[in-house]
Amino acid sequence: NVARAPGSCIPDDEKGYKLDLFCVPKHYEEDLDQVIIPHGLIMDRTERLARDIVRDMGGHHIVALCVLKGGYTFFADLLDYIKALNQNSDKSVPLTVDFIRLKSYCNDQSTNIVKVIGGDELSTLTGKNVLIVEDIVETGRTMETLLSLLSECNPKMVKVVSLLVKRTPRSSGYRPDYIGFEVPDSFLVGYALDYNEYFRDLSHICILNENAKEKYKV
Ligand code: IMP
Ligand code: MG
Repeated sequence: NVARAPGSCIPDDEKGYKLDLFCVPKHYEEDLDQVIIPHGLIMDRTERLARDIVRDMGGHHIVALCVLKGGYTFFADLLDYIKALNQNSDKSVPLTVDFIRLKSYCNDQSTNIVKVIGGDELSTLTGKNVLIVEDIVETGRTMETLLSLLSECNPKMVKVVSLLVKRTPRSSGYRPDYIGFEVPDSFLVGYALDYNEYFRDLSHICILNENAKEKYKV
């Protein structure tokens, strides 16, 4: 069952890679402990997610809904891979895009309130096959909120792809339909994942150290 498909599992004791094995912006060198998912590995996993999604949803027009801001890099790369499949096979699926902005985080804590702060009217999604593209699911509250908002507009089908899912006791039990990687319960940054808006300009997914949590605190 694809809906319960596991992501590629990164264990809790994963050592990752030393920062100086890869290229990391100089302004972040002091803030990170190790690279946990190198950019190249993210791309390889994303290529396969694109194939799985097209296999399951490829019969009909897909509206890809990007959850901003954290989802934007993954969204762009995933869509590039779906476009490549469309361009290079006998079957292809029309793809349109939509954006929604949600906010639930302050410092490294998920707040109980999930705010929709912009994006198109969700009513344009009525009757459509919607693919929600998210960066990371932690408690699952953000996605559950979005799914319930969306269901009021009666889309024909809704699937969720999240690059990351955190293994955490704070989880509501919610699991996306497609998962890139299952990750340990640490605060992760890079590849558009941020800490108070910093670290989106970092290609690899890294663990933020305790010093940096203080340094960029708001
Ligand atoms: P949830 O509602 O607890 O599932 O949290 C989901 C949202 O919190 C994601 O869309 C992210 O924006 C943010 N988030 C959760 N964990 C992390 C993290 O480790 N790094 C950066 N953002 C995170
Ligand atoms: Mg997000």
